[in-house]
This record gives sequence, C-alpha cells and structure tokens, in this order.
Amino acid sequence: MDRKRNIYPRTDIGWKDFAFLLLALVVTFILIVSLFFIGKAEDTAANWARHAREVIQTSERLLTAAQNTETAVRGYLLSDSKSFLEPYQKNLLKLKNIRIELAKLTKDNQQQQINIKNLEKDISNIATINNKFIASGGTTEDLRKQKFAMDSLKHHVSQIQQLETSLLGLRTAQAETAWLLKWTMQVALLLGTALAIIIGMITLRKVIKTNEKYIYTLEQARDEAIAANKLKSEFLANISHEIRTPMSGILGLAELLTLENLNKDAKNMAENIFISAKNLLNIVNDLLDFSKLEANKIQPDNIAFNINEVVQPVCNNVLPEVRKKSLELDVSIDPEIPATMIGDVARIQQCLLNLVQNASKFTDAGRVMISVMAQEASQNSLKLLFSVQDTGIGISSEFQKHLFEPFVQADGSMTRKYGGTGLGLSIVKKLVKLMKGDIGVNSEEGQGSRFWFSIPVEIEQKGEENDSNS
Ligand SMILES: Nc1ncnc2c1ncn2[C@@H]1O[C@H](COP(=O)(O)OP(=O)(O)OP(=O)(O)O)[C@@H](O)[C@H]1O
Ligand SMILES: [Mg+2]
Repeated sequence: MDRKRNIYPRTDIGWKDFAFLLLALVVTFILIVSLFFIGKAEDTAANWARHAREVIQTSERLLTAAQNTETAVRGYLLSDSKSFLEPYQKNLLKLKNIRIELAKLTKDNQQQQINIKNLEKDISNIATINNKFIASGGTTEDLRKQKFAMDSLKHHVSQIQQLETSLLGLRTAQAETAWLLKWTMQVALLLGTALAIIIGMITLRKVIKTNEKYIYTLEQARDEAIAANKLKSEFLANISHEIRTPMSGILGLAELLTLENLNKDAKNMAENIFISAKNLLNIVNDLLDFSKLEANKIQPDNIAFNINEVVQPVCNNVLPEVRKKSLELDVSIDPEIPATMIGDVARIQQCLLNLVQNASKFTDAGRVMISVMAQEASQNSLKLLFSVQDTGIGISSEFQKHLFEPFVQADGSMTRKYGGTGLGLSIVKKLVKLMKGDIGVNSEEGQGSRFWFSIPVEIEQKGEENDSNS
C-alpha cells in the first residue's frame, strides 16, 4: 500500500468562483441600497407634486370665494336685500382663511410668499371697497377700484398657479424618472440575485463534489485498512494455530522426558524445556484468542453450568503459584446464585482465570480474594459479578487508563520480572464485551488492586432441566 498517498483530494473550487460569488453579492447589496434611496426619492418627488396640486386647487378656491363676495355685494346693491349680506360676510371670511391656508402651504417658497403678500393687499382692498358699497353705496370711481382690485387678485392667483404648475411639471418628471429607475433597479436586483444564487449553487455543487470525493477516498482508505487488519489477524490466527500442533508434541515429549530416569542436570534441563514450552504454548494460545477476537471469529456459546464449575478449576490452576508465594486464597460465592445457569462457561472461566493469574502474579505477600455475587436478578436472568482482589503491587492511575489495551504492561522491568505478553486483560475485555458484560478496575499503587467484571446469564428453569433430563 502507498503509505504516503494524500487522502485530501484537490479541490475544484478556485479563486475565480469566490471572486464571482463575491461580485454578485456586492452588486446585489449595492442594488438593494440604491433601491432604498431611489424609493425614498420617488416618494419625495410624488409628495411635492401632490403639494403643488393642492396649492393650485386652494388658489382656485380662493378665486371662487373672491368672486362670490363680489356677486353677493352686487346682489345687495341691485336688490337692496340684506339676505345678500350673510353670504358676503361668509365668503369674505372664507377668502381670508384660504389666504392663510395658502400662506402656510407655500411657506417654504419665497416667490410664492411675495405673491401671497400681494394677495393679502388685494383681499384687504376688496373688503374695504365692498364694505364701503354696503355702508353707503359706491361711486363710479369705487366701481373702477373694485374691478382693479379683483383683476389684481386674479393676476396674483394666476402667478401663484403658474409657478406651481411649472413646479408640478418638474416634480412629476422627477417622480417619473425615479419610478422608472426604481423598476429598472428592481429588475436588475432580481437578475443580480438570480445570478448570485446560480453562482452560489455552482460553488456549493463543487464543494459537495469535493467532499464526496474526500469521503470516498477516506472510505477507501478505511476499507483498505480494515481489510489489511483483517488479513493480519487471519494470518496471526492461522500461524498461531499451526504453531500449536508442534508445540503440543514438544510439550508431551518434554513431559515424558522429565519422567525418565535421568541424571540431575539432564532432569533439570528437561523440566526447564517443559516449563518453557508450556509458557510458549500459553503465549501462542493468547495470540490465537486475540487474533480470533480481532477477526470477529468467536461467537459466545450458551451452555448450562454451575458456578463451582467456573471457580474450582481457576483455584486449582493458581494453587501452585499461591502456595509457592505463601499467599492466602479466599473464595466467597453468593448463596443466592442459582444452581444452574446458562452462559458461555468456558469464556467466563477464561476471564476469571486471567484476573486470578494476574492477582497471584503481581502479589508477593498477602492474599488473593475471589468473590462471585448475583446482581439484578429476575425470574429468568441475572448478572454474575466476579471480583478478584489482591494485596499486590497495585497500578498507578495513569497506567489504569491504558490497562485494557493490547501489549501494554506497566513498564519494561515488569516484563522482565513477571513475564507475559500484555495480552491477557485486552482478551478479557474483548470476551466480556462479547458476552455483553462490563469490566473495571480499582487500584492504588502499592496497595493492591480489585478487578471486576459482570456477565448477564440466564437462569435455567426447573421445567427445562427436567425436559433436558428426560
Ligand atoms: N492484579 C494486578 N496487579 C498489578 N498490576 C496488574 C495486575 N493485573 C494486571 N496488571 C498490570 O497490567 C499489565 C497487563 O496485564 P495483562 O494481563 O494484560 O498482561 P500480562 O499479565 O503482563 O501478560 P499476559 O497476561 O499476556 O501473560 C500487567 O503487565 C501489569 O503491569
Ligand atoms: Mg495477565
């Protein structure tokens, strides 16, 4: 396999993609901002146009009110009827009010203010002459003056209207231009946004494609690694299996040799061969178990068993070591544990044996305690909690974190002093997990350790036992 292969594929996204995307976004942003200001300008122009129209209409109303006063005065003079006086007064008041209204409307236009001032004079003249007519009747000169005042008022109204009409044209044109610009901008904004979306989607597609390639390459690398690992585990399993057969031969013959009538040195050598071969077989067996577990080639069995069948052989196995070191070996079994349970007895025993072997191996004085308890018991099942406690060398909290990893031992000197491969606990952990159980440790350096594991097992029902017996 090419170890240096770069698993990060080269991306298809270039700076041009980002530049386009950025450009489209900037253009869209500028369009949105411009649209906002153009909208405001259009509103202002439209408002001013409305205002100019209002001034024209108001001045028109002023002219009508002035004509109405004149008509009312004429009616009074011709008929001498006082009924004309009320409409006269009303229209005169209206005339004055409309002028004030006009003055307010045009207060920001100096030219119009001059016209309004002239209007004020006209209205005052009209009122004076008309009042004179009503009070004492007028002369021909007064009639001329009245006509002159009315003409002057009409002239000034017309000036006001002309000015507003020219402003109206200008503002309407401005509003129309703004309106046109707004729509053009809106269409441009729509196109700009569409462009930004398209460029964004193209870039996104490239990102997705690159990611897909990346994931694919990673998956490929992972599959290759898994396949290689499986191959390695299978090779290890095969080779361990192959080594076991000649090893059994060596072990058998070495044992036979120790029973022969040999001189002391030769007997010593034969015994050493036997012990070394036995240790070697243990290592090979561990390697075989480990590689089988790695390759998922072990399935848990379900066999009926009694707890003593698990504990007794384990005690027998470590008894020589325990006696050699003058350790105490205590066993406590919970009386609540049912007589017959169903589980993978061989694997449970293998786990317990590993822990008890470790306890007796790493304890030079004191005792090793084995206890089995029933937990979470129901009618059909329970959890068997195995715990192995010792008064040995203990384990530092730093090392405890790596305790269940394969080929891990406390330190190099440990390997030389106690031997072993560092596979035992990792095999136990894998087996416990295979049986859906849990495992843990409490330990303090120099104070001893307590290893525990719990395994769910089924309780064999009486009826089943009878059935199987019959
Ligand atoms: N009861 C214990 N007390 C102190 N240290 C322990 C104990 N059990 C395990 N250890 C530490 O954990 C290490 C790993 O244990 P493990 O059983 O995996 O390997 P091993 O006993 O060294 O070798 P193997 O079990 O393969 O013969 C040991 O080398 C030892 O340092
Ligand atoms: Mg061990």
